Amino acid sequence: MKVTGAVGIITGGGGGLGAGVARMLAAHGGRAVVLDLETSAAADLEREVTNVTFVPTDVSVPDQVRAAVDRVRAEYGRIDLCVNAAGISPAQRVVDRRGRAHDLPTFEKVLDINLVGAFDVIRTVAAAMSGNEAGPDGERGLIVNVSSAAGLEGQVGQAAYTASKGALIALTLQLARDLAIHGIRVMTVAPGIMDTPMLAGIDGDRRAALVDLHVFPKRLGTPEDFAALVKCFMEVTLLNGEVVRLDAATRL
Ligand SMILES: NC(=O)c1ccc[n+]([C@@H]2O[C@H](COP(=O)([O-])OP(=O)(O)OC[C@H]3O[C@@H](n4cnc5c(N)ncnc54)[C@H](O)[C@@H]3O)[C@@H](O)[C@H]2O)c1
Repeated sequence: MKVTGAVGIITGGGGGLGAGVARMLAAHGGRAVVLDLETSAAADLEREVTNVTFVPTDVSVPDQVRAAVDRVRAEYGRIDLCVNAAGISPAQRVVDRRGRAHDLPTFEKVLDINLVGAFDVIRTVAAAMSGNEAGPDGERGLIVNVSSAAGLEGQVGQAAYTASKGALIALTLQLARDLAIHGIRVMTVAPGIMDTPMLAGIDGDRRAALVDLHVFPKRLGTPEDFAALVKCFMEVTLLNGEVVRLDAATRL
């Protein structure tokens, strides 16, 4: 898939990793449509970067997802790329030190946004992509899901987040198989520790400790690293049904 001129939907693209992809697409003459919350930084990104469009959308509300995808199709004629980066990561132990159990609404909310919301976007966008004219190799689209190292190695307090991100990893090959008849590829990224607003508020010492966990290179990942990986997925058609860690060999 050519990056130049590609139309991409990026959920959670108002900040962090998703915004990195939006900037990358725009820089290559593509169109980035950011589906993010009204309260996010997406409106600022739209003002700052030409070729970025913000469509306020809560991915956990099916009517909003449907309306957003319909709008993108009507305005731009096709959807080539979909990056599912919307996500939340509240921390809570299954049973805390005082003996209190994890509350169920929090667990359900994380699954609702990180997994059910992502699946709703995938199914809606893939149906739209299936109407694209096929490119070389019969390709009609690429879906990139953003999992996490926590989807493979959950840390303390990450039960809900790990369940949601692990499910995205498990879905990767299944989705690639299901969508193959339409020429749609599916890739998943499992980032390690990325320097995004999710890390805001971490003090200097803690940050240095996180950097030190990296085997090589000794630095946190960036939205630019993530965007470069998505660009590689777009360009190398043989990549499909695979999970790629983006973590400088870090194991938490
Ligand atoms: N930062 C990291 O270290 C790291 C590591 C592994 C995985 N990830 C994953 O990468 C993705 C991007 O995270 P980030 O680090 O860029 O953080 P971020 O907080 O900057 O981005 C997440 C975005 O999702 C949006 N969002 C939240 N709920 C939403 C909803 N219901 N509907 C639509 N948008 C919603 C937020 O407004 C925000 O813009 C997330 O899925 C996260 O779990 C991040």
